This record gives sequence, structure tokens and C-alpha cells, in this order.
Amino acid sequence: MDHFRYQHGKLFAEDVSIATIAEAVGTHLYIYSKATFVEHLRRMQEAYSEIETTICYSVKACGNIHILRFMAEHGSGFDIVSGGELFRMLKAGGDPEKVVYAGVGKTDPEIRAALEAGIGFFSIESEEELRNLIQLTKDTGRRVKAALRVNPDVAYRTHAYMTTGTKENKFGVDIGNAIRVFDSYAGNGSVTLCALHVHLGTGGKKIDPYVEAVEKVMPLVDTLRGKGHTIEVLDLGGGFGADYESNTVPSAAEYASGIVPLLKHRDLKLVLEPGKSICANAGIMVSRVVYTKQGPTKKFVIVDAGMNDLIRPALYQAFHFIWPTDVTQDFVPVRRSKRLLFEGTEVVDVVGPICESGDFLAQDWAMPPVQRGDLIATFTAGAYGFTMSSNYNARCRPAEVLVEGDTFRVIGRRETYDDLIAREVSERA
Ligand SMILES: Cc1ncc(COP(=O)(O)O)c(C=O)c1O
Repeated sequence: MDHFRYQHGKLFAEDVSIATIAEAVGTHLYIYSKATFVEHLRRMQEAYSEIETTICYSVKACGNIHILRFMAEHGSGFDIVSGGELFRMLKAGGDPEKVVYAGVGKTDPEIRAALEAGIGFFSIESEEELRNLIQLTKDTGRRVKAALRVNPDVAYRTHAYMTTGTKENKFGVDIGNAIRVFDSYAGNGSVTLCALHVHLGTGGKKIDPYVEAVEKVMPLVDTLRGKGHTIEVLDLGGGFGADYESNTVPSAAEYASGIVPLLKHRDLKLVLEPGKSICANAGIMVSRVVYTKQGPTKKFVIVDAGMNDLIRPALYQAFHFIWPTDVTQDFVPVRRSKRLLFEGTEVVDVVGPICESGDFLAQDWAMPPVQRGDLIATFTAGAYGFTMSSNYNARCRPAEVLVEGDTFRVIGRRETYDDLIAREVSERA
């Protein structure tokens, strides 16, 4: 579900044409649809309404403060993984009590800042981290809640770089050690271990890994409770699928239909940390064709956005549906798919200007013919798009635009060359 649609062959974000935005703001740029964000959040809130659930939107997926602000206004909490994300969340007016903080390498300054802010709970990824948190919490004279992130060793079936819940991953502690950790640190007096956290990975398309994870974790909850530990919360992380191709992943309601029955009447609050499933198809990246070029074996469409702007194809071999924003009626895509068959398309590599052979948005991709100056949209780019962008090749990062109904505004200005050297220029230089 999203609000990017072709009307008479022209791509619109909600009620604004992409061409209008590109004309006003320039290319390349990210364009987000507020209605898509809010609708995905609402669907998730509804799907889990039978149990007390806090949706903690994953800031790392798309963390522009304007987006965080309206997500907070619509009831979202936040999943953070760094001091920088804590800072963003606070600037956006998020409620610290609805914040969960995961990450294997939290530094002392980051932990102190989170304690100072009064976040909901820390997600503990190792015993050494827990000992450190206890010490730092004692120093501040505060108490804080924590979840133990357990690694349930569930196969999640995604790209190797996107799985986090198997024994080989650096995340969490082995589920077999959980009881010992709870027993060892229960009486520490400053960090209350009262939750379990599981995050399986990102980019999956199936419900059963969640069911398997809950089925592995619930006996642990029972055992811990039997030993006198209070377990208030189960945090099931994120990783719910997003439609990179139309209708290929379970809906929020379908995921919930597998998960909720296992947790109902268990006296547990639920936390979920969705990123992609909220924001992936709430954003597109728009770029302009700079040149086309026929090589000996391939045709290249060279655009003004590169792997520094959207690294997912290069990093994960991720698929993004790419299509011109202005097409004849014959070429209006009825759905987004890897296997869309249209007569008259041309097989091309869509590449950026970066000096790397890995700099592509799509390879061997059948697209309507385009020429210099045309606009093309890379769909489902809202998650891990702008947030993973860089200045490689001294390129200015693109503008970010938010569309709301028939209006749009720049929520992140395009970087300038001065931005590129701002950190390096001393006052005297
Ligand atoms: C701990 C944690 N929670 C939530 C997420 C969000 O995942 P996704 O964007 O796939 O929902 C991630 C990302 O991998 C994560 O590491």
C-alpha cells in the first residue's frame, strides 16, 4: 500500500505530480508520502490492538526529524541504536518513555545521555554491557529498565547481511544463557531486567520465523517467572516485510494473526520495532537521466543519483522497481514486479555517476525507453535510503521532500559544496 500512483501516465505522490516537485526542488531527491507512513502505522496499531502494544518505529530506517515528529504525534514510540538517533528523537519531540535502545556497542556517553533522557528501556546485547550499564546507572543514582536481547537461532531467510537472529550473528546473547544472566544480575538494585528482546533481521517475507521465535521465547518467559523474575514486556523487534514487489509480503494483520494468539492472556506487553514495513514504500528516489550509452553488450542509463544516495542495490543486491515518471498509457505499470512484461521496453543497466562498477540502481532491467533529461523514479526507497547515504565522490546528498495531500515541502535541504567541507574548514582557514 502506498500513495504513489500514475494518473494519465504521470507519476503522482498523493495529489502532487513528481514533475512539479522536481521542477521546484531539482534532482536528485527523495520524496515521501505522509499518508503512507501514517496508514502503515495505523494498520499496525490496529492489528495488535488486542494486546497492550507499543509500536517503536525504527529511526535508522528513515529518521528525518519531521517524519519522527508526525510519527510521535500519531502515537509511535521509537527504536534507537545510537546517541545520534536519541538526539534526533528528542529534537522531534518523541516521548522518551516510549523509546527502546538496542545496539551491541553503546558507549558510555551514549548510555549516560539515554539515562539522562529517561528512556523506556535498554536492550542488553552482552553481559559486559549489562555490567557497564549497572555501573553507570549507579553513578547517576537512577534506576532503569532493561530487556535482555536473546538470540533465538531462528532462520529468517533473507540476505546474509540482513539476518541477526542466528548463532553466527553478533547480536544479543545465546538464548541458552538467558536464565543464568537473569539469575546473576537480578539483585543489582539499579537496572531492572524485566523484558526479553528478539530481533530476527530485516527483509524477510514470512510469518513463521516470528511464530517460531515466540514459541522459543515463551517457555523462557515461563521459566524466568517460575524462578521469581518479573517479565513485563516482550519486544519482538522489526523485520516485517515491505512490498518491494506488489503484494509479496504478509500484511500487518496477517503477521498479527500468527503472533497475537500466542501472546494473548499471557500478561505481557508487546513492543514492535518496525522500520521497512512502515517507511519503505512511503518514499521514492527521483533522479534525472544524464546520458544514455550503448556499450558493446549492454545499454546504460546514467542518472544523477548513485550508490552514495541509495546503496541497497550495491550492498544487498536489493531489488527496487524503477520506472520513468512520465509514460504513455501503454506503459503504466499495474503493479511493481521483477517480471513485468511490456512490449517495447529496453533492457538496460541504470547506473549512477560514481567511480565504482558496483554503482548501479538496477541491472538488466526492462524499462520503457528513456532519453537525456527524463525523470525516473526508484520505488520503495523510503527505508535505508537517505539514512544510508554518504558524500562519497564528494557528492552532495539529495533533498528530502514531504508530500501531504496536495502540498509539499522540503524537509531536508539539498547539501551544498560548502557543506562538504564545513567540518574541515577551521575559522582561520
Ligand atoms: C534492533 C532492530 N530493530 C528494528 C529494526 C528494523 O528492521 P526493519 O526495518 O526491517 O523493520 C532493526 C533493523 O535491522 C534492528 O536492528
